[in-house]
Amino acid sequence: MTTNTVQPEVQDQYEAYPYPSRDPKDERKRLITGSPSNLAELNHYLFAGKRDFTKPFRVLVAGGGTGDATIMLAQQLADASIDGKGVAGQVTYLDLSIASRKIAEARARERDLTNITFLNGSLLDLPKLGLDPFDYIDCCGVLHHLNEPKDGLKALSSVLKDDGGMGLMVYGKYGREGVYEMQSLLRDLSQNCDSLAEKVMLTRRLLEKVPASNSFHRNPFVIDHKASDAELVDLLLHSCDRAYTVPEIEDLVSSAKLNIASFIEPVRYQLETYLKDTKLQQAAAGLGKMQRAAVAEKLASNIKLHVFYVTRQQETVADLSSLKTVVPVLREMDPDQLSASLKKTPILKSNLDGVAINLPLPRLASAIAKRCDGQKNLIDIYSELKELDARLEWDTFVQQFEVFFRAFNSLNHLFLRY
Ligand SMILES: C[S@@+](CC[C@H](N)C(=O)[O-])C[C@H]1O[C@@H](n2cnc3c(N)ncnc32)[C@H](O)[C@@H]1O
Repeated sequence: MTTNTVQPEVQDQYEAYPYPSRDPKDERKRLITGSPSNLAELNHYLFAGKRDFTKPFRVLVAGGGTGDATIMLAQQLADASIDGKGVAGQVTYLDLSIASRKIAEARARERDLTNITFLNGSLLDLPKLGLDPFDYIDCCGVLHHLNEPKDGLKALSSVLKDDGGMGLMVYGKYGREGVYEMQSLLRDLSQNCDSLAEKVMLTRRLLEKVPASNSFHRNPFVIDHKASDAELVDLLLHSCDRAYTVPEIEDLVSSAKLNIASFIEPVRYQLETYLKDTKLQQAAAGLGKMQRAAVAEKLASNIKLHVFYVTRQQETVADLSSLKTVVPVLREMDPDQLSASLKKTPILKSNLDGVAINLPLPRLASAIAKRCDGQKNLIDIYSELKELDARLEWDTFVQQFEVFFRAFNSLNHLFLRY
């Protein structure tokens, strides 16, 4: 099923080292979640928060690897479905690697998931596979391993519904500082190695001995290779990989006639995150949204992966235009615990690969957080707060909610649903 545009070395690598390394038995203990493709997140960015997951929803995970996105999506769709099995939400997994597919299938069996179809093949062949079009496509860490990533994105786009969207991830150029020098160095040193396994041993040996000045050694944010051999091969011994800047992503996306709905986490791509000086902010005043994102990326220099949503449509991101009916949905945060912590410190703190984030929150933050249970809309939340304080005006509440929403959403903790 593969075409000659897939490098045999890439296929061999993922047969020998399925990525990421996963043990199906771990499904009994935890669900791996992440971005893109969290259901509440993709609903927010691609469907204005209005998608009903009890209705048919077709997903493709292209280059599904050992199954992280496939399992997360299939489980979340099953949980959202009326029968608890996800008959409405169907996931198709596609990957070149048979070894990776076997691991993903075993993970699905551990969870009794029955809403996944597993296929082996190249995503470049999607236009001729005869599959019905998809509402959502996840393609993470795959396009940058193709000889022609633009051809890959076009192939994905050929099976996307007109009102559908995609969650993509490609490597970030500046955050991977040192990686390509190390890859090149390893190519020089491993010319006499007969197998990938031998190259892995050589790499491990080298990494213990590199001088402190080495650029890869000096990049503290790239640590994937420490997890296992599969991660080490993927990072340092790949035969085909490239990294992107924001303008290069714009070029990639527009080549398939798609638009960027948002980068994740949005705060990383906002200039204000890094530029607090008003004179410097003024210097950037004339820049458009994407130029600002490009400057933010250069300033931070630590974005090693770009996660982003794309669509054919414009304006697919949920907003606060229908204030009364909007439901705020916290992602993987317990409202009670969050509320208790905000009572002590009304600041949203985070650390994004060395950049400290401190976002001030409004007076009502703790009380709002407590009521963000994914069911209550803003009128419900306001009514409860008004019972506690009869003088609370709707406008005051809305102003404070907006500040709360912008802070939590910018860090990818809060989405909107209608
Ligand atoms: C780095 S892994 C990413 C796996 C998964 N998407 C994830 O994020 O965990 C890249 C995967 O893409 C697959 N792949 C590479 N080129 C492909 C192609 N042309 N068609 C389908 N799968 C491909 C590889 O076999 C491998 O499993």
